[in-house]
Amino acid sequence: MTLAHISDLHFDGGARAEERVVRVLGRLRSMPGPFDALLVTGDIADHGTEAEYECAARLLADFPVPVLCLPGNHDVRGPYRKVLLGEPASDAPVNRFHQVGPLAVLMLDVIVPGRDEGHLAGETADWVRATIRDALPPGTPVVLALHQPPVALGRDLVDSIMLDNPDDLAALIAEHPQVTAVFGGHTHSATVTTFAGRPLALGPGVTSTLRLDWETGVEEWGEVIDRTAPPGFAVHVIEFPAELAEDSADLAPRAAGARLTSHFRTCG
Ligand SMILES: [Fe+2]
Ligand SMILES: [Fe+2]
Repeated sequence: MTLAHISDLHFDGGARAEERVVRVLGRLRSMPGPFDALLVTGDIADHGTEAEYECAARLLADFPVPVLCLPGNHDVRGPYRKVLLGEPASDAPVNRFHQVGPLAVLMLDVIVPGRDEGHLAGETADWVRATIRDALPPGTPVVLALHQPPVALGRDLVDSIMLDNPDDLAALIAEHPQVTAVFGGHTHSATVTTFAGRPLALGPGVTSTLRLDWETGVEEWGEVIDRTAPPGFAVHVIEFPAELAEDSADLAPRAAGARLTSHFRTCG
């Protein structure tokens, strides 16, 4: 499985944001791939207006593989639902399940309206449990994606707005050995680490790049956010120890043994 991954587009109605997204999507379109899907891990809009989502929808509309989105703290569920999903506006979490070949991709909504930090709500954790239990053959390999990461990066300004209940996510993952990887955004930084014993990969920002402590010691957003850095994207390759048979009852151990290899590129 090969998943392209972009994050933090921050459409704001301006030419800069649109040009950056066009540049990244153009690079992805120009490559032979093959990609199985494109993940977009939140902050699609900057202010959450319908006009911003209309811009996003227009640029993502004819992408050659399925585009799987989730909202970030800059997104607003009502306009997001209405424009990107064609559904009535609602404030309920926008959790989505997508089957991509043998892989189940669960796009989690962990936003808290009006706040920058994320929270795994009980409703969303229960949705993950129910989806894995009821909608998937036993042991189907699963990846989870969410906006705010459950780990600290070591930069106080940013770490104050991460997922505020990482232990709940860790417990959820511990229940499910078929979760092979977790993807996120929000930090505008291409980052790979582990969480709850699984790989965790964060997509680089399209709109800007986070500077960490070893790049600047100043704790001020204007210094921390590098708007001159080129937009980036990730390509995640997930390999399974053996070919997955659709009717196999023994997928879970193999899913848990899957290997994630993440590649990162910038579009200068
Ligand atoms: Fe962002
Ligand atoms: Fe964010």
